[in-house]
Amino acid sequence: MHLQTSSWPEVEAYLTRSKAIVIPIGSTEQHGPNGLIGTDAICPEVIASHAATQTDMLIAPTFNVGCAQHHMAFPGSMTLRPSTMIAVIYDWVLSLGRHGFDRIYFFNGHGGNISTIQAAFAEIYADRSLARDGANRGPVKCKLVNWWDYKPVFKYCMDTYGKSHGGHATPSEVAITYYAYPEAIKQVEMSPKIAPRGRYTDADDYRAKFPDGRIGSDPSLADPKDGKILVEMSAKELIEDFAAFAAS
Ligand code: NI
Repeated sequence: MHLQTSSWPEVEAYLTRSKAIVIPIGSTEQHGPNGLIGTDAICPEVIASHAATQTDMLIAPTFNVGCAQHHMAFPGSMTLRPSTMIAVIYDWVLSLGRHGFDRIYFFNGHGGNISTIQAAFAEIYADRSLARDGANRGPVKCKLVNWWDYKPVFKYCMDTYGKSHGGHATPSEVAITYYAYPEAIKQVEMSPKIAPRGRYTDADDYRAKFPDGRIGSDPSLADPKDGKILVEMSAKELIEDFAAFAAS
């Protein structure tokens, strides 16, 4: 069940069954020579949508622009400042909280979002902690999970791609987008085969060190058949973890 395609009476009815909601959250940023700009938003969105076909789960709109300042030297990338993103997450959670949602499951597709999402959670919790009356609102619990961090999913990535998996523009995330959007599959030869690894600071530093955008990966291995397996595997874990969170 998707918020965007539900009516308010349907959402009101859902709230009598559950106070929990999933927010797919990602980024709009370059993903190397053959990866889609929307990769980090598409992956959690597609996995959550698959999960929602199998269980009573409400999916919020995808939070699809995140913290990607380090990708801004590549055309098409978009970013929020961390301070902006914290403010926006805060308002999304309070909007949902206004209706009674009290378990907000952030299902993330971008490593660069993690610290900012956690800072946003701290802002939300600080409201109640700093006010003796609880700021006149019920407690809201937020949870952050990266789709690749479920144990079987991580193991599948390591077993399938090994040293070619890398850290950015990984074959696993590209495979998921190719499964979801086969019309967008791109054949590109990688040079070098496996991209360099390392740290970076700002956008120019990143592009100087990682000229084609990849870090440590060989996304030419991305295969939509693996993408299908990853979507199904991750959706199964999401269903279980979301149910446990909703009941917590
Ligand atoms: Ni990514």
